[in-house]
Amino acid sequence: MKASILVLAGDGVGPEVTAEGTRVLRAVGTKFGHTFSLRDGLLGGIAIDRMGTALPAETLAMARASDAILLGAVGGPKWDDPMADVRPEQGLLAIRRELGLYANLRPVTIHPKLVGASTLRPEVLKGVDLLVVRELIGGIYFGEKTRAPDRASDLCVYTSDEVRRVVRRACELARGRRKKLTSVDKANVLESSRLWRRITEELVRKEYPDLQLEHVLVDACAMYLARRPASFDVIVTENMFGDILTDEASVLAGSMGLLPSASLGDGPRGLYEPIHGSAPDIAGRGIANPYATILSVAMLLRYSLGLEKEAAAVESAVSRAIDRGVLTADVAPPGAPAVTTVQAGQAVVEAL
Ligand code: IPM
Ligand code: MG
Repeated sequence: MKASILVLAGDGVGPEVTAEGTRVLRAVGTKFGHTFSLRDGLLGGIAIDRMGTALPAETLAMARASDAILLGAVGGPKWDDPMADVRPEQGLLAIRRELGLYANLRPVTIHPKLVGASTLRPEVLKGVDLLVVRELIGGIYFGEKTRAPDRASDLCVYTSDEVRRVVRRACELARGRRKKLTSVDKANVLESSRLWRRITEELVRKEYPDLQLEHVLVDACAMYLARRPASFDVIVTENMFGDILTDEASVLAGSMGLLPSASLGDGPRGLYEPIHGSAPDIAGRGIANPYATILSVAMLLRYSLGLEKEAAAVESAVSRAIDRGVLTADVAPPGAPAVTTVQAGQAVVEAL
């Protein structure tokens, strides 16, 4: 097949990890006979520096003309003035919103070799295989904001349609898994959560009666993720809760550098990025873990291009590289030698 992919490397370790993602993508093209045409675009801090805006119109136009987008990370200390009107993160939020990517899929699995990389006990991690579906373009991130010297506000709004479409996506995914759906909210306090809970309940009852549905309050969910993570299958939740819970969930896997994500809308076009940030403390040193980005490439192949066999091949190649002990510093056991970003990428290509 032919596909056009926009690469937005972004800031910090973004260019280092996307270089390995595209290396793997090219290898998949060669091995399976596909033509992937890759283009580069500007997003985030680098776009602010060169174009004065975090999401230049050219980038958005290129994104709309692509089949999929691979993104590194945005942000860094250089642009970190909290009072600044232009921030790298705005670019990320705007591209998600402009492309209508309301469902953010963040799978968490644990490679047996990396059980020791987590701060949690091995017996707690046994059997963990969960998927967080985070609503991505609504809620408090996008509600009306006000700022005055002594008062500031961020409004959290959801409509029933916004809830329904993301919960429906989560239900579809749960059907292909263990058929358990956990909807996370704060319905004991928030009106937006009460709406979320009612719509979810109605939808699942009516359209997905084969699923087991539970509602869990977000504070309790944060605790259960650390106490009994293996009990979760698919978790669906609103934007900010999903942001927070997935950073917590990354501890299960051992490192933020291992978790991929896919952001999807109604059509096949999606945006794929590691859930980690720009990691300015290690940027430019060639030691960032590229596996989260490479696993995001696998999700890109699966969800935007429909190439399941290729996606599975990439996932299995990463797994074999980890088996062989090809580990960057974030996950290498104490005393064991750590590989560079490039070496980890090369090991995946070899395993392919
Ligand atoms: C994420 C990030 C972003 C978010 C930031 C960089 C805006 O934390 O993708 O989880 O909050 O969505
Ligand atoms: Mg986050």
